[in-house]
Amino acid sequence: MIHILLLLSLFTFTTHAAVQDFCVADVKFPESPAGYACKPATVVTVDDFVSTGLRASGNLSNIIKAAVTPAFAAQLPGVNGLGISIARLDLAPGGVVPMHTHPGGSELLLVTQGFIKAGFISSANTVYVKTLQKGDLMVFPQGLLHFQVNAGGVTAVAFASFSSATPGLQILDFALFANDLPSSLVEATTFLDDATVKKLKAVLGGTG
Ligand SMILES: *[C@@H]1O[C@H](CO)[C@@H](O)[C@H](O)[C@H]1NC(C)=O
Repeated sequence: MIHILLLLSLFTFTTHAAVQDFCVADVKFPESPAGYACKPATVVTVDDFVSTGLRASGNLSNIIKAAVTPAFAAQLPGVNGLGISIARLDLAPGGVVPMHTHPGGSELLLVTQGFIKAGFISSANTVYVKTLQKGDLMVFPQGLLHFQVNAGGVTAVAFASFSSATPGLQILDFALFANDLPSSLVEATTFLDDATVKKLKAVLGGTG
């Protein structure tokens, strides 16, 4: 009898437990440090958990000959709150993903085509570099500067998964040269000469 009562109370408890299975991003509202607000479960559909945007390469006709196609919370609302996301990386021959960081998460890169020389620099300024081929993985710890360069004569493809639904992206050269930070301050804080700073600002679209 006691057993049955116990079982019954357990059953009532579990069926009423307010477990929230997911928090699909409601991208109509701005993102907060905790992620996006949750869409009401009644309007969530399977397409909130599916991305077809990574089937094809992004446009490689750009200065870096590379394209990163994200499936972060903004593109794949179902990852909101789950601490995961993914992106597709295409690198034409000669292509490069310039030195950058993801402030919000660590990265796991899986090469599925071609060859990619990838590396990161630790806080102690130790460099870890390796040429990866199809099937190889490399991990880039959160916040550290890292890069990927095409290391073969063919277009390379890789998928980068992240330990965050919104890992963020800061590209070092853009941060230094693609904004309106005055040249004099860029020179003073980087020890680069005037001509180099002005040239990079012109190439990357900076002013000041
Ligand atoms: C790729 O980008 C270039 C440069 O912006 C543009 O001229 C071209 O039309 C784009 N190609 C496609 C297929 O969108």
